[in-house]
Amino acid sequence: MAPSSVYQLLADGVSLIIDTSSGTPVIAHWGKDVGLEKLEDQVQAILSESIPYASIDHPKNPGVWRENSRGFLGRPALSGHRTGQDWSPLFQLKSSERTETKLSFVSEDSLAGLKVKVSYEMLPSGVILISQSVSNTGTSDYFLEELLTWLPLPDQATGTMDFTGRWVLERQPQRRQIQSGTWAREVREGRTGHDYTIVQLALTEGANYQQGEVWSTGLMWSGNSRHLVEKLPSGRSTVAAGELLLPGEMILKPGQSYEAPTVVATYSFSGIDQISDRLYRWLRARPNHPTNIRPRPITLNVWEAVYFNHNLEKLLQLADVAKEVGVERMVLDDGWFGSRRDDSKGLGDWVVSKEVWPEGLKPLIDRVKSNGMEFGLWFEGEMVNADSDLYRAHPEWILKTGDRIPPEARHQQVLDLTHPGAFEHVFNQVDSILSNNEISYIKWDHNRVLTEPSHLGQAAVHNQTLAIYRMFDELKKKHPGLEIESCSSGGGRIDLGMAQHVDRFWTSDSNDALERQYIQRYSQIAIPPEMLGSHIGPTVGHITGRTHKLSFRAITALFGHAGIEWDLTETNELERAQLKSWTDYYKNNRALIHSGKTVRVDQPDDSAFVHGVVAQDKSKALFAFVQLRPTGGTLPGSLRFEGLDPLAIYKVIAEQPCGPAMFMSQKSPGWLEGATLTGAALATIGLRPPILAPENAILISLEKV
Ligand code: GLA
Repeated sequence: MAPSSVYQLLADGVSLIIDTSSGTPVIAHWGKDVGLEKLEDQVQAILSESIPYASIDHPKNPGVWRENSRGFLGRPALSGHRTGQDWSPLFQLKSSERTETKLSFVSEDSLAGLKVKVSYEMLPSGVILISQSVSNTGTSDYFLEELLTWLPLPDQATGTMDFTGRWVLERQPQRRQIQSGTWAREVREGRTGHDYTIVQLALTEGANYQQGEVWSTGLMWSGNSRHLVEKLPSGRSTVAAGELLLPGEMILKPGQSYEAPTVVATYSFSGIDQISDRLYRWLRARPNHPTNIRPRPITLNVWEAVYFNHNLEKLLQLADVAKEVGVERMVLDDGWFGSRRDDSKGLGDWVVSKEVWPEGLKPLIDRVKSNGMEFGLWFEGEMVNADSDLYRAHPEWILKTGDRIPPEARHQQVLDLTHPGAFEHVFNQVDSILSNNEISYIKWDHNRVLTEPSHLGQAAVHNQTLAIYRMFDELKKKHPGLEIESCSSGGGRIDLGMAQHVDRFWTSDSNDALERQYIQRYSQIAIPPEMLGSHIGPTVGHITGRTHKLSFRAITALFGHAGIEWDLTETNELERAQLKSWTDYYKNNRALIHSGKTVRVDQPDDSAFVHGVVAQDKSKALFAFVQLRPTGGTLPGSLRFEGLDPLAIYKVIAEQPCGPAMFMSQKSPGWLEGATLTGAALATIGLRPPILAPENAILISLEKV
């Protein structure tokens, strides 16, 4: 029997079918498992197309490499050349390998001197990891411009959703119809960026959180990036993701290869929530996923409490109040090192400042430890102020093009970590601080974009990105148990690549609870709540100046890796008691919040959010009803609970663990005192929500009886 040319990977209702009968891998289907058997015949039928007038006479399916040599006129997967030659390869499939869960294909163009590989790994969650590489098998340098991973979309995927943003307003969704042309989301900041779309979604008409089909692609990469949707004049659409390479950034010498960042492809037959569920299951299955090591501790970060005003007395007081309210980890932010008394100097000198810390960090760490908390410390190791000992000693260690110094941002430049001396210097200084102090957590910042990022004249974002991954991995290896938080002026470095090297992301510099409702909702489409820092900020927000009740700030911060970012020494007795009740509540519920399915209930209008977490076995759930804006009618819209067991009976209890919300009614619905309903009734009919003032929220806990 001739070897089969059709391959299928299946997991949890997701199917990927690849046909190689034309001599190149062609994705025949990516989506719902339709139980295809006797694949060969059916796949040939599925792939057969008309030949239109005014077209190539014998068109070939361009397959995953999309070469122009096959008559294909869209964007090829691989672009590059040898000083003008070998720009248009034609790859022939050389070998295929299959296991239960993985398919790999190697193709070659021996005339062009290029070999390409692609592998598809189907995980139990239905997530597909796609890895591609290109090798230069020729005898001269190959100038690689782009290696994108493309996936076909079925014609019923008519819209896209991706995410844009800026400082203190990360992950804002945008939806559009797929139209002819190419929709490109590019980042050229040299880092992930606030404007980065952690995943790009393609959706069927009317798809939402619980309904419709969704195809998702994301990139495991923290440098420059590209996410594309292309609709050709043929009417067919495809999506792509890959690294954005700067001119001349990737020159492959004979024998050298380029590994493209892995693409994470996910499919859902029941709305966006199932995309999140699959991504969470993939991330949570990793042995080193933070919740597989221990519960996520309540974190106090002192940045908004003291900024650069480091004063031992004040910080000791903070540590004492932190203990009183149930904090489990205290993090000292920027300002403890070198001459860093404001943001204009000292960056790069990772030595404890004698000026503000004459006895070192020990007195504070001792108090934090004796108060039963862990200690964490801030670094921004990829950066340097011009006014620093490091820059004075090594001005040549910054990323720059020739002698031209890049424009400063926050008075700083980017250290060239691809320079072995610079890498070692940073590693050794950080290592020494970690070795000489009891520090189990670092917050690692990255507060500027990269402009003209060159190493010896050649663009170096790719290598700089690999260097920071290596820095984190080596620090963790040297300091077992060390946790790292990725921060970049808030949420500027949150992506599926960095998620493999750190334990937590600082979601946004905005602790404004109203903004956080949106930022967290959309960040959580790809990143599980236990990896997203969400802190209770001060009563009057430092970024927006909005005033929010403690209950609203606390309920908002609960659905994440919760913490506090507030000068606790200015709180009164009642606030401290409420904070203690909230930290207790978080500790009792974090196992659920950090392991369950995240549910965002589709709402009739945008004045309220209903979101929550349902335990994997559906035995319990915790939801928030969030009144964002005033209700349209006198009575607010529905309060339904999705994701429950329809046949089970649930006890419903309204909870306010951190002080009361503001109600705008003479009387609230009776169920707030307690009710018992079936999962089906709760999902289909729901309950009548209380009338809350805007920017207020309540919690609803549901437990199977
Ligand atoms: C960035 C971070 C903040 C804080 C400051 C310190 O802006 O996002 O959380 O750490 O740097 O300078």
